Amino acid sequence: MELQKLYDTKKITVEDALGKIKSGDEVITGLGAAEAKATLTRMHEIADRVKDVNVVTCLPMGNYEYFADPKYKESFKMSGWFYSPGIRKAHPNGNVTFIPNHLHLAGLKRLAHRKPNVFIGTASPMDKHGYLSLSLSATYERLVIEQADIVILEVNPNMPRTFGDTTVHISEIDHLIEVDYELPQLPVVEPSEKDKVIGEYIAEFVEDGSTIQLGIGGIPNAVAAALVNKKDLGIHTEMFTDGMVDLYKAGAVTNKNKSLMPGKMIATFALGSKKLYDFINDNPAVQILNGDWVNDPHVIGQNRKMTSINTTLEIDLTGQCCSESIGHKQFSGTGGQSDTAVGAQNCPEGKSFIALYSTTTVKTPDGGRKTISKIVPTLAPGAAVSLSRNDVDYVVTEFGVASLRGTSINERVERLISIAHPDFRDELREQAKELMIW
Ligand code: COA
Repeated sequence: MELQKLYDTKKITVEDALGKIKSGDEVITGLGAAEAKATLTRMHEIADRVKDVNVVTCLPMGNYEYFADPKYKESFKMSGWFYSPGIRKAHPNGNVTFIPNHLHLAGLKRLAHRKPNVFIGTASPMDKHGYLSLSLSATYERLVIEQADIVILEVNPNMPRTFGDTTVHISEIDHLIEVDYELPQLPVVEPSEKDKVIGEYIAEFVEDGSTIQLGIGGIPNAVAAALVNKKDLGIHTEMFTDGMVDLYKAGAVTNKNKSLMPGKMIATFALGSKKLYDFINDNPAVQILNGDWVNDPHVIGQNRKMTSINTTLEIDLTGQCCSESIGHKQFSGTGGQSDTAVGAQNCPEGKSFIALYSTTTVKTPDGGRKTISKIVPTLAPGAAVSLSRNDVDYVVTEFGVASLRGTSINERVERLISIAHPDFRDELREQAKELMIW
């Protein structure tokens, strides 16, 4: 059949799409800004008709009624591979839960556990060859498309057309919904003084010709600014960010020395501002590839001078990093933190950085705020170890760099205390003594 006719036969409305969801179904949507916003916004409209629909998400950007409003909790459950503000808020409702995962295995492992009934994703419009682009993410989306009973895509002219494993042929899709909404964006935050100091420390270690990965969070994005005078950097990253666009435009990233896919910037998803979406649109220099390949530590380690830069919430004096929970409370996810840190160290000249502020402020029971050290003798009860102490390499705060590779516990304690905030160093030494980890 002629492609446009085939396309037209597949067009449905949001109501039609919702009509295909049954009680007990597992529904998976795209990651981050690749989530199916039009359908998710109206999901709650079928609440009277369904029970126990499980929606699997990863870093959802919208605060959708179906999970935010507790009155729908018998109709919908939500399982998240990565929490974001909306799910954190909804968690106490009792119908939201976390799926522990390393991002490169998130899709494969979930599919081994349960076959999805419906995948609802997003795509840019069809080209003349009958291909649509999954646009902003190929983390697990292709795998799910291959296995879901029903595949529905929201086709949006505002989605950038990207290359790589994002291309799907119209024949692989069951239904299309034509939509036209603005994409979710991450705000661009100017680096603080502390970010600049941390960025400078890390920049000293990043050699020209390195392949870099920058993780999610304020600090890694700020570190990008400190790399602007480097030469011939390459990109092999989980998340493609605004900072990488700036580095490419400034000429610091050329990708020409890359050992894996030279000339190309590799990512498994992209999330940022409109500037980022415009940059990756129709840009063959950026390849959005399957997460089970991009984030595989063995693949990452094949890059030249692979350097990973991520951040954490809390680190103990032995080097265990909790980057995803505040005590028992799930905050985000492991994502690719362990994938990329281990991957960088699989590379003979690789380096992996965990960068964090030495302190943060938290609420006190009386409604005030107090400053606490993010370097602690032991992680808070319930804290998830996102990066094992066996895999931590360099740790950086605004007070310096601690190289932990190959160090003993007592060497780590010393090094980590030396980059803790001066106000907490004596206390940390006392606590280390009590724990006999001096
Ligand atoms: N104890 C209690 N609260 C803490 C804390 C601690 N030790 N450390 C930070 N917080 C609070 C902050 O005060 C802040 O609170 P607020 O939202 O009320 O302001 C909040 O936690 C977030 O901290 P912040 O440092 O601003 O987070 P971020 O947006 O920079 O993200 C991570 C940091 C670690 C959560 C994020 O990078 C992440 O999820 N990492 C895991 C995944 C990953 O690294 N993937 C890599 C490849 S993309």
